[in-house]
Amino acid sequence: MPSSGQKSWQARFSQAADRLTEQFVESLSFDQRLWPYDIAGSIAHAEMLAGVGLIGQKDLKAIRQGFKDIETQIRTGRFKWNPAHEDIHMALEAALIQRIGEPGRRLHTARSRNDQIALDLRLYVRDAIDLDMLPLLADLQWEFLRSAERYIEAVMPSYTHMQRAQPITVAAYLLAYVEQFERDRERFMDLRRRVNVCPLGSGALAGSTLPIDRRAVARRLGFTEITRNSIDATGDRDFVTEFLAAAALCAVHLSRLAEDWILFATQEFRFISIGDAFCTGSSMMPQKKNPDVLELIRGKIGRLHGALVGMLTLSKGLPQAYNRDLQEDKVHLFSGHDTLKQSLEIAAAVVRNTTFNLDRLRAATERGFLDATVLAEYLVSKDVPFRKAHQIVGKLVAQCEKADCELVNLSLASFQSVCKQIGPDVFNYLTAANVVSRYRSEGNAGPQSVRKQIAYWRKLEKERRAASK
Ligand code: ARG
Repeated sequence: MPSSGQKSWQARFSQAADRLTEQFVESLSFDQRLWPYDIAGSIAHAEMLAGVGLIGQKDLKAIRQGFKDIETQIRTGRFKWNPAHEDIHMALEAALIQRIGEPGRRLHTARSRNDQIALDLRLYVRDAIDLDMLPLLADLQWEFLRSAERYIEAVMPSYTHMQRAQPITVAAYLLAYVEQFERDRERFMDLRRRVNVCPLGSGALAGSTLPIDRRAVARRLGFTEITRNSIDATGDRDFVTEFLAAAALCAVHLSRLAEDWILFATQEFRFISIGDAFCTGSSMMPQKKNPDVLELIRGKIGRLHGALVGMLTLSKGLPQAYNRDLQEDKVHLFSGHDTLKQSLEIAAAVVRNTTFNLDRLRAATERGFLDATVLAEYLVSKDVPFRKAHQIVGKLVAQCEKADCELVNLSLASFQSVCKQIGPDVFNYLTAANVVSRYRSEGNAGPQSVRKQIAYWRKLEKERRAASK
């Protein structure tokens, strides 16, 4: 079947593209959203071309005017996207030529769609980091911080292997998430340095014989550097893969949070209550309040991991320089970006609207021998070697299990019958409240340490808020 329009590259072809080919190779349906970056890149390119005399000032003026008109039309929804155009680059260039004629035909001087798309994507990823990932991660971190500030003294059981372990403060538990999201933030910041390098002027892959000024373009677009090697610059999508890797790992953190809180919201735990506005009901069972938001935070992560694997797979085995396979990068990039953005946004809202049920938490710390480890450490302070202390406490726990009681319920005589070094002061070490007040190693989960951690994050929060103004 014949094609629906003339292509800018048509001259060397004796047959128009088949409709199937057109539909198969097009990317306009999904790369349309790159238009702000494509226009910004084109204007910077045109300014440079005028600067070095490759186009006239009049041409530049017309190009600027043409793009202004196109931009207004797109913003107001009046722009006619013509599906006959292969991609965003072709669509915008054709629209420009349609409006301003000859000067529009000069715009693509010393440029290929290969360096153009590499540029658009770098601008896109830079914005995704600056405008979405970093602010959303910060919002989420500060929600955890606000919540931690409310629960500095509140004690809860901790778990390893989902078995009760040692008592911790709720604040320490919440601050653990601040740390995870801080590492995510660092990964995006680190990536930003590598993204912020301008590839424009690399042409199709070998550069250009025309006297272009690549650094001028880079400066105009806020890049700190230009790429060194034109072949690499046009075929490199590491920054997309890295973005998705950082996003996928961030999603892992979100899914671990979701898992904990789904469990904590069960009737069995009742450690937390999630605001009604962030839960949904059942179509059949009238009593239900389901944590669907958290379940979907956990579930949508499939898209993020899919995006990362998709990106790795499409890059694998590609010959050096640009190959059309790379067009598919956008599918993964946009999917990963959109999904994580949504999940981070709602995760912050869930944290803001979740309260901890302190009575339930306190009750939970009363069973499960959360003070067994501190008892062993107490014995160490009485000069019992730790391995021996461990055995002694193990025996005591077994005794308690038989009697269906806790360590604090044993009499001093029963303690001393197993180990004579135990004195009456042992009772100052038992129970969750005593334990958390005794933690002393740096970074521990007790209230003093948590106060320090909170002070650390508060200071960072203030600095970052000031810097982002
Ligand atoms: N639409 C393409 C992409 O997204 C850019 C164009 C490069 N096409 C080409 N035939 N060299 O990667």
